Amino acid sequence: MTDATAPRPIRKAVFPVAGLGTRFLPATKAIPKEMLPIIDRPLIQYAVDEAREAGIEQLIFVTGRGKTSIVEHFDTAYELESTMNGRGKSLEVLEPTRIQPGNLVTVRQQVPMGLGHAIWCARAIVGDEPFAIFLPDELMIGEPGCMKQMVEAYNQVGGNLISVLEVPEEEVSSYGVIAPGAKISDTLTEVTGLVEKPKREDAPSNLIISGRYILQPEVMRTLEGQGKGAGGEIQLTDAMARMIGTQPFHAVTFAGRRYDCGSKLGFVEATLALALERPDMADDTREMARRLLGL
Ligand code: UTP
Repeated sequence: MTDATAPRPIRKAVFPVAGLGTRFLPATKAIPKEMLPIIDRPLIQYAVDEAREAGIEQLIFVTGRGKTSIVEHFDTAYELESTMNGRGKSLEVLEPTRIQPGNLVTVRQQVPMGLGHAIWCARAIVGDEPFAIFLPDELMIGEPGCMKQMVEAYNQVGGNLISVLEVPEEEVSSYGVIAPGAKISDTLTEVTGLVEKPKREDAPSNLIISGRYILQPEVMRTLEGQGKGAGGEIQLTDAMARMIGTQPFHAVTFAGRRYDCGSKLGFVEATLALALERPDMADDTREMARRLLGL
């Protein structure tokens, strides 16, 4: 592809963080789900790290009531830093929380009406350029990270991209599912249809959408005035489904691991898996697991 036809770069990312997190109540009554930590980093930090690795410059948080701690997490904490300085402690641990001034923008979703509605709330900031979406409760661990893999694919095919992964057939009805078309490569497939939370017998495949998207700005117009879908919510999947046929859509099979940290079991699994990978924790975690399992 020559420069003149190269897809426009992905500079902006939307992080919808306005959901109620009801599956984690009462923990999420006063703390946003996205601030629950996997070991020592909140979920939102993992997503922001993945975005930066992929070259994203501007972070757009769609927030709601009770979500201010997410924004504060990425602010300078003067008292904390000066106290740590006074005690001779290194501030390196805070480095991932630093954002270039002006590169974090928040918009408000006053009522959590669904993922599609949350994305639409960011329309004025996204403007007329392609953008990424991260669902922070889906923790994607890979090298390179999921969004970097997607940006590499986007640079080849442009258009719209969705990260997908295979799940057992009995699980499809909890997710957005794709209808796969032509295979472009081992990891890249055309998408011919999308359906949100289908019945198992109606699902077009067992490939589920897994929390990372690169979309063209036209999705905002498609979301405009869209009615409610599955679960009585305004669904992003429905808007994307309506765009298929008018714009290229591809699915990228993520080479890595995904943990559904919006569910309790997924959250525990992620905590254990990451602890087992960390050089400073792996041996002790293995020992602890053996003890707990009586092995
Ligand atoms: P979920 O479907 O996991 O919903 O949202 P939720 O409210 O966070 O959690 P539960 O199901 O009640 O436990 C996926 C992502 O979309 C955001 C959430 O914050 C989460 O990051 N979201 C969802 C919004 O920003 N607004 C919405 O109206 C819905």
